[in-house]
Amino acid sequence: MSFHPQMDYAPARFHRSARRLADQGEPFAFTPERQAAFDRSVARYPADRRRSAILAALYLVQEQQGYVSRQAMRFVATQVACTPAEVEDVVTYYVMYYRRPVGTYVLAVCRTLSCALNGAERVTEALAEALGVEPGGTDATGTFTLTEFECLGACDRAPVVMVNNEHWQERLTPDRVPRFLEDLRARGLAALGGCLHAGAEPGDRAS
Ligand code: FES
Repeated sequence: MSFHPQMDYAPARFHRSARRLADQGEPFAFTPERQAAFDRSVARYPADRRRSAILAALYLVQEQQGYVSRQAMRFVATQVACTPAEVEDVVTYYVMYYRRPVGTYVLAVCRTLSCALNGAERVTEALAEALGVEPGGTDATGTFTLTEFECLGACDRAPVVMVNNEHWQERLTPDRVPRFLEDLRARGLAALGGCLHAGAEPGDRAS
């Protein structure tokens, strides 16, 4: 029903923002070890600049619970002496902070020019098909979350997939996707072939 003679106010026509709030989560506090790590980080800055340690605090939150919940944002705000809204600004700006639970392995396929020209889109499609998820989703086993990312700085070894923000698989092709996932399940991060992965040689160990 509409109160305007020519305008249909059907619910589907209302604008809905695509922005999703972070999960609320459980009440959050650092473990003693992470509190000590945060205290060491914040001690590097002047006492009236505690907010300079906000990225370190959020990294520790994510390390502890796998993502940054709204409860954790409130906790970080008390730690760095700012408002929860300011913490949320940071969390939503940096894509490497997750606002809801993710899988054991977060696969971030680079979609910038070099990777795009070398088939990154087909790699994403192959991963999506193998895992049964769309980008942004987590597979039914909770093992893999699939996302897309901008340039990872390894353009000469495109297409590149970043895993858990710190590890790389280079030159991944759609036909190697099943083996790539199988190896990750079986051997974990040690299965990756990326020059930025600690202890790995540049090259292609996925073949
Ligand atoms: S374009 Fe993909 S790593 Fe640079």
